[in-house]
Amino acid sequence: MIIEPNSNAMGARILELDLSISLKDSEIDRLMHALGTHGVLEFPEQHLSTSQLKSFSERFGELYISPGGRAQADGHPEVMILSNMTKDGQAVGLKDAGQSWHTDMSYAKMIAFANVLYGTTIPHRDGQPLGATQFRNMHAAYEDLPPDLKKTLAKRTITHDFNKFWDMMRARPGSTRPALSERERQARPPAVHPAFLTHPITGKKVLYANPGYAMQISDMSEQESKTTLDFLFAHQLQDKFLYTYAWKKNSLLMWDNIGTTHNAVADYDSHEHRYIERCQVMATRLYGEKGTAHPIMFTSGISA
Ligand code: SIN
Repeated sequence: MIIEPNSNAMGARILELDLSISLKDSEIDRLMHALGTHGVLEFPEQHLSTSQLKSFSERFGELYISPGGRAQADGHPEVMILSNMTKDGQAVGLKDAGQSWHTDMSYAKMIAFANVLYGTTIPHRDGQPLGATQFRNMHAAYEDLPPDLKKTLAKRTITHDFNKFWDMMRARPGSTRPALSERERQARPPAVHPAFLTHPITGKKVLYANPGYAMQISDMSEQESKTTLDFLFAHQLQDKFLYTYAWKKNSLLMWDNIGTTHNAVADYDSHEHRYIERCQVMATRLYGEKGTAHPIMFTSGISA
C-alpha cells in the first residue's frame, strides 16, 4: 500500500490497496497508525458489497448498532444508510445525518474510534461534487489553546449528551426527525469524558469537546461552563484546522473520531442524490472490549 499525505491540515490517500479482500494484520496496523497520524484516510476506487464494508470496518474494533434501528442496511444492522433517496415513497436512509459539527458517539461511555463511509452515489451540480464531509483537527486545536485554559481544563471533564444533537437537528425547519422515544433516550444516557484526551495512537493530547454533544464542564457554574464551551467551539472552528473532503464515487473514507470533529455539508437538493453506507467503529480495540467500564479509559492513557 502507498500512504500519500495531503498538504492540508490533515488527511491522506491510501493507494494500491483492495479493501474487498481480507487484509493482513500488519496492513491493519499500518492503517490504524495512519489514521491516528493523518486523521482522515481516503481509499479511492473501491468496489465493495455491504458485507465487505462491514468485514473491513470490524477489523478496527466492534461495530456500533444503533438502538433506534433506523436506516439500517438489509440484513446488516451494523451498516447505516446515509441518503436523501427514496424507494416506493419511503426514505431509504437518514437524510440529514451529521449535518452540523460533532464527534460521533462522544455521548457514549465507549466512544467511537473510527467512521467508515463508502459512497456510491455522489450529488453533482455543474460538474462539481456536492455533499462534502468537513473535518477539524483536534490535535492542532489543543496545541493552539491559550496556556491558562489548558491548565484550567487539564483535570476537568465534560458531559456529552446524545439528545443535544438530535433535538438541534429536529428544531431545523423541514426536519423529518421524529422525537426520540423514551426507550431511545434511555439507551443513550449522557457520558462524561476528560476535556483533553491523550490520543491512544499518537500519544498526544486532543481537545475532546465537540459542539454537537458537549453540554457541561465539571466544577463550573452553568454560565461559566457555557462561556468556556462557546470559546472552545469558536476556537476549534477556525479555518486553519479545516480539511474538506470532496466525495468521489466509489471512494471509501475513514476518519478518527478521537482526533477530529466533522460536519456533513448539506448543499444539495432532494433531487441531487447521495447514497453512502456507514459503519461506526467503537474504540474497543484501543480501550478494551465492549462493556468495559468507563474507568478503564482513565487508566489506559486516555485521561488527562
Ligand atoms: C456522519 O456524521 O457520519 C455523516 C457524514 C457524511 O455523511 O458526510
